[in-house]
Amino acid sequence: VVPDEAWRDEVRRLATERDAVILAHNYQIPEIQDIAHHTGDSLALSRIAATSEASTIVFCGVHFMAETAKILSPDKTVLIPDARAGCSLADSIDANQLRAWKAEHPGAVVVSYVNTTAEVKAETDICCTSSNAVEVVASIPADREVLFLPDMFLGAHVKRETGRDNLHVWAGECHVHAGINGTELAERAAALPDAELFIHPECGCATSALYLAGEGAVASERVKILSTGGMLDEAKETKSRSVLVATEVGMLHQLRKAAPGVDFRPVNDRASCRYMKMITPGALLRSLREGTDEVNVDANIAERARGAVQRMVEIGR
Ligand code: 13P
Ligand code: SF4
Repeated sequence: VVPDEAWRDEVRRLATERDAVILAHNYQIPEIQDIAHHTGDSLALSRIAATSEASTIVFCGVHFMAETAKILSPDKTVLIPDARAGCSLADSIDANQLRAWKAEHPGAVVVSYVNTTAEVKAETDICCTSSNAVEVVASIPADREVLFLPDMFLGAHVKRETGRDNLHVWAGECHVHAGINGTELAERAAALPDAELFIHPECGCATSALYLAGEGAVASERVKILSTGGMLDEAKETKSRSVLVATEVGMLHQLRKAAPGVDFRPVNDRASCRYMKMITPGALLRSLREGTDEVNVDANIAERARGAVQRMVEIGR
């Protein structure tokens, strides 16, 4: 399927016919981002999913995002154009592993990144995204132990920002972000000494960037640790002519649209999430035509997960 004008017309027509709102994550291919009614980061899209008037949500993103939309809006039909679009980070912990971890830390508050399955969310006290992880953890009384999962790099970022010693971090990682390494970042930053660095907190190189700043190898004001939505806000404000971007490469499309005068370059141009890219123009068309793939969450699990997800959408910017 070629994403031409005829495709765009048909997608729009079918969306209207189905009373569907199309949501696209910032890591989707440009054609899908541009046809969506709303494009954004995980937190922004969850908020739209919770408040949208449409009876159907077509989630162009990965499975946990569509599940989160279904948890927030159980009466809506939630579709994902390809149900195989998973997430290696969400796969790094299951509900049994979390129950065993909780048993080792009775009374601890469980904070789960939104990149988790519905079953894990059902065992969670508060969910967060990379936009509000620091605020979510800061909202927990300082004397309570916190179990933070599943991303170790985001966990390290939250620990640094909140200064909490009683925060335990699960050793999961996203294979795309973990693959953007500190050596590559250091080389690129040295070659472009005036560039700002926009770094997603899931990146292994976030710690390296702060280390470089601490050593004086990179000016500390050049280093910005940001969610994908935070990167867009920062792009609109930046005075720099060039920015090095450490996250999934789909993000570059929105950044270049937001600030056409800035030269945005990926730290690693191979950082592409194969799950996000399963949402092809053909898959979106099929989804709207056939009402596939429908995402359902067991009512009991959704009920237990809803409080944690609702707390997430209420906290932070
Ligand atoms: P955000 O859009 O919340 O920054 O999330 C990044 C991500 O990896 C989603 O899979
Ligand atoms: Fe999951 Fe990483 Fe892909 Fe995001 S980029 S969906 S965290 S595998």
